[in-house]
Amino acid sequence: MTISALQKARAQYQPKLPKSLKGAVKIVDGAATESIADQAEIKHLFPNTYGMPLLTFESTSDTGSVAPVNVGVILSGGQAPGGHNVISGIFDGIKKLNPDSKLYGFLGGPGGLVDHQYMEITADFLEGYRNTGGFDIIGSGRTKLEEEAQFDKGLEILKKLEIKALVIIGGDDSNTNACVLAEYYAAKKAGVQVVGCPKTIDGDLKNEMIETSFGFDTAVKVYSELIGNIQRDANSAKKYWHFIKLMGRSASHIGLEAALQTQPNITLISEEVAAKKQTLSEIVDYMAGIIAKRAANGENFGVALIPEGLVEFVPEMKALIAELNDLLAEGSTAEQEFKMIQKSHRIDWVAGKLSTETSTLFQSLPSSIALQLTLDRDPHGNVQVSLIETEKLLGEMVKTRLDEMKKAGEFKGKFGTQYHFFGYEGRCAAPSNFDADYCYSLGYTASVLIGAGKTGYMSSVRNTTSPAEEWIAGGVPVTMMMNMEKRHGHMKPVIQKALVELDGAPYKYLVANRDKWATETCYLYPGPIQYWGPTEVCDRPTVTLQLEQQGK
Ligand code: FBP
Repeated sequence: MTISALQKARAQYQPKLPKSLKGAVKIVDGAATESIADQAEIKHLFPNTYGMPLLTFESTSDTGSVAPVNVGVILSGGQAPGGHNVISGIFDGIKKLNPDSKLYGFLGGPGGLVDHQYMEITADFLEGYRNTGGFDIIGSGRTKLEEEAQFDKGLEILKKLEIKALVIIGGDDSNTNACVLAEYYAAKKAGVQVVGCPKTIDGDLKNEMIETSFGFDTAVKVYSELIGNIQRDANSAKKYWHFIKLMGRSASHIGLEAALQTQPNITLISEEVAAKKQTLSEIVDYMAGIIAKRAANGENFGVALIPEGLVEFVPEMKALIAELNDLLAEGSTAEQEFKMIQKSHRIDWVAGKLSTETSTLFQSLPSSIALQLTLDRDPHGNVQVSLIETEKLLGEMVKTRLDEMKKAGEFKGKFGTQYHFFGYEGRCAAPSNFDADYCYSLGYTASVLIGAGKTGYMSSVRNTTSPAEEWIAGGVPVTMMMNMEKRHGHMKPVIQKALVELDGAPYKYLVANRDKWATETCYLYPGPIQYWGPTEVCDRPTVTLQLEQQGK
């Protein structure tokens, strides 16, 4: 196979590990834990895995022998840079425990466990994947491991391969399910440990013990490079407003971090929109106001960052989407009828079925967007936000508003738009040094937890704004991160999703600076990720992490 010069050189990179993981490791038990809320219910649902202590690792001179262990690994959900290094960390860690240990990868995500699709990951095979982006080593998928029948089917293959531990690399939902699986196997005395690793570019799996999910660092650096390039183009040509939608299904961490790295003119934060109960029209007013102010200074250009999940945080749009989800639920009579209707009549047909208020909103949307809202749902019956062109919706609405303002003499400039959506561009990028090191450490940590017989834990690596040597590795009981939430009509134990905190340092920094960034042109140009060179360029963590850690 031919590989690029960068891949060749990058293959030589040896990820940095925390000091405590470099030799033999001793596990130190911390205090017993409680879930963040709903303690009684969660304790009741997880009798075998609730209340376990926090674990930290220390170096020891005692190199006691450990029997070989067979381990399975699953990549779950959307791609995130560094997944291959998590697998490398697990591999090297279990080989260190005992060179006869084996690692099996389940193919195509959690479905691979249920369908018994797997491969052994050997040293030679893994060599080509170290420090590379992507999840192509074993593939990923979005099958949810939720049913006992799936757990039992999985156990058959785990038993056949004599696998004693399973590592699930995923986001909040996948790690919730990993914990349910850990509990199920523990209750059955199945002899299979389950350990999780925190993954998602969205950055919304984080808490006191998990400082960041892997992949966020690299993905946002890629988007920030692109945004910086666009800002420089905007400032050179001085003729376009660039409306840029950024991935992040729900939380706005990506948009916020990209804004801190690039200082654009407008940054929308979904969590703020929800807290202020803003309407679409208010958001449009805010954007048009900034565009008019810049135009008054002779600057008919700018950059606006729009989070992917925005529409679901605008209360009136949320209500509309909920009605549409019910109306067009898969298999419903209305859905069947809808499919038979000619495209040109669909908007009127849907409008006729909605309540008065939502119907008015639906009909006020540009028709292309109204139709996008009626597109196929995801497997859970929800609208697929990455398919909604929110950047165009806002662009068209802002244009209409500016035309009105022009007539009233409140806007004297020009408004030309370019639209972008950055998401897939960053999810499989070659991991930054931070992600390469962090992921390898997370994987290695998982192997230590496995060696110590732990189950129901998530790998945790903290103190991540310090040099990697000083990172603190350990394990967090997954039940500690849980609370009860309503999902599809039922109360369920879930890991709490971390949205942007409006009293957090990163958001406050944006608020303190955004008016200046709006009217003046203060663009920052972070440039491409650097793998070799000065530490402050190559190893810098995200601004979000730095601001959050400063406050501690
Ligand atoms: P995960 O939460 O599974 O990591 O996926 C995140 C994400 O990249 C979102 O940002 C985006 O909305 C979604 O996946 C896109 O999903 P798909 O890959 O199925 O198009």
